[in-house]
Amino acid sequence: MKPKGGKPVRAQATSALRLRESAARTFERVTDALADAGLVFGAPEAALDEAAAAVMGPRRFARHQAALAAYVDGRADARALYATLRDVREAVLFQSHDAVVAAAAATHVFLSALQDAAPKARVVELGAFSGVMTAAWAELRPDLRYRAFDRHRPLISAAAEMYGRRNIAFEAASYSVLARRPVSRAEAAAVVVSVFGINSDFVEAPYSLRSLLDVEAPLHKQAKSEARDLFRAARRLATEGAVSVHVLRAPRIARAFAYLDAATEAGFAFDADTSKRFMVGDQPFLLLALRAASAKEAASPATFRSFWLRDAPPPDAEPGDFFDDDAVLMYESLIDRRAGRSRSTKARARTAATRRESGSARGFRYELVLASDGAHALRLRPTIPSVRRSFRLGGA
Ligand SMILES: C[S@@+](CC[C@H](N)C(=O)[O-])C[C@H]1O[C@@H](n2cnc3c(N)ncnc32)[C@H](O)[C@@H]1O
Repeated sequence: MKPKGGKPVRAQATSALRLRESAARTFERVTDALADAGLVFGAPEAALDEAAAAVMGPRRFARHQAALAAYVDGRADARALYATLRDVREAVLFQSHDAVVAAAAATHVFLSALQDAAPKARVVELGAFSGVMTAAWAELRPDLRYRAFDRHRPLISAAAEMYGRRNIAFEAASYSVLARRPVSRAEAAAVVVSVFGINSDFVEAPYSLRSLLDVEAPLHKQAKSEARDLFRAARRLATEGAVSVHVLRAPRIARAFAYLDAATEAGFAFDADTSKRFMVGDQPFLLLALRAASAKEAASPATFRSFWLRDAPPPDAEPGDFFDDDAVLMYESLIDRRAGRSRSTKARARTAATRRESGSARGFRYELVLASDGAHALRLRPTIPSVRRSFRLGGA
């Protein structure tokens, strides 16, 4: 059998399989390279803490733990936490708590921006932290020329000492400085990447109930301003037409769209084909792929929405099923004038706290599942109108 104008079906299936195999193989290679550079895989939390305490000494480790607790509670920002880390080993042990996430993110960046980069292309990394990813990518593509930036000065000089080579330079600079600094033609990069390069605020501004993609919503403004300097710096350092790829935590479409808005404003066009959403365990991530553009090319909300739904087709969806932000907003409008009864249960599924509620309101029976990882679902079914039922019964 041969599809219209294409390869035979079997050949297509085999090449799709090969593609998947090669992604798995790349994940292994990136993981090995990260491990060679010092990232620790599979160690229990306690062992990582013990190793960190040994490297930092008990007093500084205690300060680090206190800063971590303050960060998790929203009492301190990420900058205060990173300031407790001074050297590559400390930073790499810190990253090792989420080693598989780091490996998955580094693999996605490698596959979408570095694997096929032109020989000797210039690569810029923003928010390089320990430099462990820069080192791993350089092991896999040693011909590329890497320049990695981070504003945390002690860490970046330690990274330079540990991983610096003829083709790997580390430099301390904040995104806001980079966004203003003149860049010579010879310096501009064909590839600009970042992995979790934004320090997101812990306390999230409210969503708009008017529209998920409302650019006036407090959440949109907050997320856009968090991302603004990163994308301005990226654009400044990119050649015309450069590829720019960023891994970000954006479990909800509203936040993701705000990040894209910041990127568009900085002079990037959205590459919907390369962009993707991916999961590591039950944690969702966004790989935002961009192309440095000469004119402003904004993606329409409809384009972004169809991208957002593309990689996560709802399982067993039927008319009346809503997912993620849509589920939240539909539920909000449903209970706004709720008349009916509801039943709530709370459950804990793995790490995600889940709230379930079923009930009836405004002529619908509904089932709501809200999970703290953003995997929300709402199923609406019309209740059979009682008038009709009694009419049928009476008319028999
Ligand atoms: C969450 S860490 C991610 C580190 C590493 N890329 C990873 O994936 O493990 C964010 C990094 O971005 C850097 N960073 C955040 N905002 C920055 C800014 N405005 N200028 C320069 N670096 C910044 C921080 O110093 C930190 O090293």
